[in-house]
Amino acid sequence: MPTEFETASVEFDAETGVGSLTLNRPDSLNALSDQLRSDIIAGLEELEAENDDVDGIALRAVVIEGAGGNFCAGADINEFSDSSPGDKSDRSHYEFIRNFPVPVIAKVSGYCLGGGLETAMCCDFRIAHEEARLGLAEVNLGLIPGAGGVQLLSELASPAAAKEIAMTGDHISADRACELNLVREVYGAEFDDAVAEFAETIASKPPLAIQAIKRSAAIAAQTGVEEGVAYDRQQFESLLETEDHKEGVRAFAEDDYEPTFTGR
Ligand code: COA
Repeated sequence: MPTEFETASVEFDAETGVGSLTLNRPDSLNALSDQLRSDIIAGLEELEAENDDVDGIALRAVVIEGAGGNFCAGADINEFSDSSPGDKSDRSHYEFIRNFPVPVIAKVSGYCLGGGLETAMCCDFRIAHEEARLGLAEVNLGLIPGAGGVQLLSELASPAAAKEIAMTGDHISADRACELNLVREVYGAEFDDAVAEFAETIASKPPLAIQAIKRSAAIAAQTGVEEGVAYDRQQFESLLETEDHKEGVRAFAEDDYEPTFTGR
């Protein structure tokens, strides 16, 4: 049964360990109102609570999608004020997603613009429907993307692509986004199944190792190689002590043994 918030809902599949968060303001193409921003955080917290009172780690991956065939058309323009456009909430859902311990996959269909694209870029992966349209439209409002869109796009694609997309405000196709490394894959009719399969694949891996990889990649983006490698070495040594490591070694050694990873 999904848990409903005012403008979002979440559901957890205990069998696969995959949680889903649905942005639910389809009449405004899931534009990011203050309410939706705080519901995103509340929804992710609700999913993370699946790990409470569990021996190990229950929540292994999260898929974020938009209701009604659009991911998100950006900040809610109706909530803009002269002094403070966009995010007025105390906590940023962008940062919350970036720092969320579990891998987050953006399931991108329809419009994915402005703060919607920034939300998707804060996720660990983006998988797009072939008819999705992505862009940073803020320039048309005399603004720049307010949550680091140019930075994030420069890192994922290139500074030239970031400038082109942010300066033109154009909506690019999913295929072009894939060429630019902004999305990992594009699907038509198989979209739902492909996203579910990818989420389940990530969810089936040893969760402590997956969480360490997410932190390692964040460090790689923020620090020099030496600091990053030192972090990885320390994580590696601590993962050597886990039950999941022993389980993986056993599965490698025994032909017919299917490993079960628990996050211990
Ligand atoms: N904020 C608030 N409402 C939005 C919105 C946004 N960012 N984007 C779309 N909506 C609303 C529209 O006002 C419309 O509401 P209405 O039915 O009450 O009039 C509804 O969503 C459908 O949008 P509409 O513009 O009629 O659909 P469309 O298919 O003709 O165009 C877009 C779709 C996405 C191209 C267009 O809505 C758009 O340009 N939106 C703004 C995108 C943007 O600039 N985002 C960055 C903000 S910083």
